Amino acid sequence: MAKAKNKRFKKVKGNLYSIRGNKDARTVLITGASGGLGASFADIFAKNGFNVVLTARRKDKLKEQADKIEKKYGVRTTLIAVDLADPAGPQHIFDECEKMGIKVDALINNAGLAIPGFYQETEWKKHSDFLQLMIAAPSQLSYLFEPGMVQRGYGRIINVSSFVGTITPTGSYTLYGAAKSYLIKFSQAHAEELKGTGVKVMALCPGFFKSELHDESDASQITSQLPARMFLDVDTVAEEGYDKIMNTDEVVYVNGRIYQLMGNMERSNFSKIRGKGQLRSYADRIRTNLNSDGHDKQSGTNG
Ligand SMILES: NC(=O)c1ccc[n+]([C@@H]2O[C@H](COP(=O)([O-])OP(=O)(O)OC[C@H]3O[C@@H](n4cnc5c(N)ncnc54)[C@H](OP(=O)(O)O)[C@@H]3O)[C@@H](O)[C@H]2O)c1
Repeated sequence: MAKAKNKRFKKVKGNLYSIRGNKDARTVLITGASGGLGASFADIFAKNGFNVVLTARRKDKLKEQADKIEKKYGVRTTLIAVDLADPAGPQHIFDECEKMGIKVDALINNAGLAIPGFYQETEWKKHSDFLQLMIAAPSQLSYLFEPGMVQRGYGRIINVSSFVGTITPTGSYTLYGAAKSYLIKFSQAHAEELKGTGVKVMALCPGFFKSELHDESDASQITSQLPARMFLDVDTVAEEGYDKIMNTDEVVYVNGRIYQLMGNMERSNFSKIRGKGQLRSYADRIRTNLNSDGHDKQSGTNG
């Protein structure tokens, strides 16, 4: 066992875990906990006495979040740096938890990104990594951690979907809405199967909130057209998620009154906003951008 620089942390096979907190408290595992909504989820669960396992690729950012919530709430934190676009990622997380004797009582499948542009304009490897991260990883993490939850008669699983998963998609970001819809259907079927086991499953469907995801996925062409009231507060999104999974039997929850209303209006306003954007038509882009084999000349430049 190597010696960690920070005395509050022990290092076990590359993972850091803190030696503070109550080891018998319930534990939540959050993917994509290095910032954005994942960090807000870490805060709200810690505030409610959960020990927290934080996972994402950037270990320095995870450590920052762990320091913050430990200082605020005195809970135990564990960091597992992992790339969930790697098919071995979910099993790695599960094995690390097993090695450290961590029993996961709540799982927040939150890690995510968005690939801008039209479907054929992105190299397949990026799409394939995306599908692994957004669909296979949350499905496998549920598959791995659920039996323990059922055995102990307690479990909470939140699949972070999106408002976008509930509406009729328009072009571009082609796989994003599809992946988010998958999480809704997966949660609904799964919640039904798990009735009576003490394990609850919910798809959380937020509207827009500010995070790194918008910058990294070139979404400003969409978000810059939105009025300020369309942006949700990220901490409120996490708090509502926590409240709904703990205190209700909701299986699909849309955050934000404005998005709930838009849903009722057949989501058409949102479609118009996107339609008005500067995106050229798909046909136009195919004519000007694609090679004779049908793929993007600058494949790999999106995302
Ligand atoms: N922002 C919005 O408007 C909005 C609206 C509805 C739903 N959502 C959903 O909310 C969730 C959180 O997004 P956010 O807006 O908070 O974005 P964010 O701040 O960019 O957070 C995304 C998280 O996912 C992690 N991640 C990305 N790729 C990963 C990979 N290959 N392996 C492991 N972890 C990975 C990132 O960590 P590392 O980079 O350190 O790996 C980061 O912690 C996503 O599922 C997103 O689709 C966002």
